[in-house]
Order: sequence, then structure tokens, then C-alpha cells
Amino acid sequence: MKILLVGSGGREHALALGLQADSACTELHVAPGNPGIAEFAEVHSLAVTDNAAIASLAQSLGVDLVVIGPEVPLVNGAADAVRAIGIPVFGPSKAAAQLEGSKDFAKGVMRDAGVPTAHSFTCTTESEIVAALDSFGAPYVVKDDGLAAGKGVVVTDDRELALKHALVCDRVVIEEFLDGPEISLFGISDGRNILAMQPAQDFKRAYDNDEGPNTGGMGAYSPLPWAPENIVEDTYEKVLAPMVAEMAARGTPFVGLLYAGLALTKNGIRVIEFNARFGDPETQVLIPRLQTPLATLLYNAATDNLDDTVLNWRDESAVTVVLASEGYPESPKVGATIDIPTCMDTTIYHAGTTRSDNNLISSGGRVLTITGLGSDLKEARDKAYSTIAKVLLDNSFFRSDIALAASEGK
Ligand code: AMP
Ligand code: GLY
Repeated sequence: MKILLVGSGGREHALALGLQADSACTELHVAPGNPGIAEFAEVHSLAVTDNAAIASLAQSLGVDLVVIGPEVPLVNGAADAVRAIGIPVFGPSKAAAQLEGSKDFAKGVMRDAGVPTAHSFTCTTESEIVAALDSFGAPYVVKDDGLAAGKGVVVTDDRELALKHALVCDRVVIEEFLDGPEISLFGISDGRNILAMQPAQDFKRAYDNDEGPNTGGMGAYSPLPWAPENIVEDTYEKVLAPMVAEMAARGTPFVGLLYAGLALTKNGIRVIEFNARFGDPETQVLIPRLQTPLATLLYNAATDNLDDTVLNWRDESAVTVVLASEGYPESPKVGATIDIPTCMDTTIYHAGTTRSDNNLISSGGRVLTITGLGSDLKEARDKAYSTIAKVLLDNSFFRSDIALAASEGK
């Protein structure tokens, strides 16, 4: 099977390694890819916002499957453009990707499917906004309806700030504050069936002890020894299966990766958000733990054929730590030389790197993601941190507390 994977981040690096490890994958192309991916797959230049360019690359390469990593092309309808030329795609249609592209749309589907989530109001005028803020009270949760590259959500006790954020959004979802630990739980769907993956936890704030600004994610780990034992079954029954059934009933089946961001509240699980693609950096801990051959799995999802598939997992723990450029997320300083140690017992995923002459240079906010695997979280953590300490990159930082509490049994 020839595969084209679209994207260039740490998530795509992890997916590319997973796809290549499946012997069913005979040829792997990645566009635009990154220097880490270029070490083992053929990379092609591509503007991921150009649907026609994605379809024409898939056609000229004669691939059997296209896997679309990031949300922007999915929300733009890239999957529809590729399906229109008869090539199977792992990734939802434009209509189904609205689960990530519009928070108001996601709320409507959850309501119709009976999926537990925060009570909310969708507002377009100042008077609606004021009424919604006052009806919930502090802490205020204010969400830009559309894709906002991680900058759309404000959670604050400051009513002025909440109002200010709400007023700059064209359409805004204001909702009840959910109290409880957050987890990420993904399902792989063929449009009718959905296979729940193992849960992971992401660390969204920039600095230790969950301080600092929200980021795309500074690290992750899996499994979650502290989570309720039935969390996977519970999420399947209450969230993943009803969402897939509702999307199918609407005539817009969801084919691809449904990312459920959940709060574990004292009243049970509540959906915080959906994404229409693999999470980054959760993918960098889930793919190394997944035993089920990835290329075959994603091909079967893309061709409505998951009836007989079960997911198998390695009995190992994984911890990933992001090495970020100083100033991330607001204004990352890029352009520094990266020196990566060799012969480490970890996997180093490239996220924001580029090659200049023969040097590897930082080119993004999140530069590398380093995953350690171990018999428990402590061993996995020790490996990830001992590697990250040896990577040389000026003007960089990382969190030192990824998976720390969980590894200590907290
Ligand atoms: P998002 O950009 O949708 O991932 O949201 C960013 C973060 O805002 C989430 O990871 C949560 O920590 C927080 N958040 C979103 N919705 C709520 C809510 N209803 N209650 C509490 N925290 C929330
Ligand atoms: N890790 C959060 C995300 O992928 O959106």
C-alpha cells in the first residue's frame, strides 16, 4: 500500500513512524514533512491549505490512502477533494470536521446525541454575551466559535477580560465551568464503528505547575494510572458511539480520528471539546504504545471496514516532553542551531525544525518532542528527561513536571 500523509509536525512524525512500521505500507510519502521525517520517508513540498494541490499530489503519486494530520486542511475540505478523485482518505469531510471548526456546531450535535457537556449559550450580540456571563458567573469560560489556533478559549475570574474576549469574536460560545482533571481520549472511526484508544493527558500551560499561557501542549503521557478503570468503556458509550451515530444519521458520517477532550467531574465525564484529528503531543505517546498495525488500521477506517478490528496496546508507559523555543507561544525565537545526541533510547520527533546547509535549525514554537517508553511512567519519564537534557538548543525551555504527579501515584 502506498500512503500520502499530509502535515509537518511532531504528530505527523509519530504517525509516519507508525505507518512505516506496518509491513502493509510499501511506500510512504509525506507532504510537506520535516527534516526528521525526511530521514525515512519521501517528502514533497505542499501548501496544506491548497485542496487541489493535495488531491493532485495524491493522484500523481498513485497512492492507495491519504492521511490528513492537521485541522486546517480538514476544516477546508481537503478530504472531500481527495475522495472526489476516488482515493480513500483517513480524515473527516468538511461537513464532519465542523465538530472542530465550530464550537456551536459541536454543541448542537452533542445535544442531539445526548452527549454530556457543559451547558452553554451561543451569542452574537453584547446583550446576549452579558446575559450569558451573568447566568453562569465566575469562573467564566468564553470560546471563539471558530478555529483559533489555540487562542480561542479564555477561562477567567475576571469579568472584564471575559467580556473583552467575547466582544472580539464574531460568534462566541459561553459555557459553564467544568471542574475536574482533563484527559484526551481518541476514537478511530470508519463512519459507523468507532474504536476507542487508550486515554492520555496533555499539559496545556507553558510552565511548571500549570502556570503561564495556554499552548498547543507541552507534554503528554499514557496510560493514566489514576483514571477510573472503566474510562475507555464509559467514554465509548456516552461520547464516541453516540457522536458517530448522530453524524451518520445527519448524512455526514465522521471518518477519521475523533478527539474527545474530557473533564472528569464529580458528576461524571463531560466533553470540553472535540477535535477532528489526532492530538499533538498525545499522538507521540499513543502511537508508540499502539500494537495494532497503523497503516492497515487507518486504511480500514478510510474504507468503511472496521467491523472486525480491535486495538491492541503494549504493556508499556510513554511520556513525551516538548522542547520549545523561548517566547513560545506568544513570540517564539527561532533560527538557533539544534544539536541532537545520537544513540539515545528515546524517540525524538521533529515539530519545528528546518535544514540550512548541513545544520538543523529551529523554525517553530514547539521544536522537538521527546518520547520515552518504560515499564512504568517513572522509567518512561526518566528516559525522556535524560535525553532532553542532552539536546543543545539556545533559547529553549521545557516543562520539568510532565507526568510527575502520575508517576508518583498521585
Ligand atoms: P481548547 O482550546 O478548547 O482546548 O480549550 C483550552 C482549555 O480551556 C481546555 O484545555 C480547558 O483547560 C479549558 N476549558 C475549556 N472549556 C472549559 C470549561 N467548560 N470548563 C473549564 N475549563 C475549560
Ligand atoms: N494537544 C491538544 C491538541 O492537539 O489540540
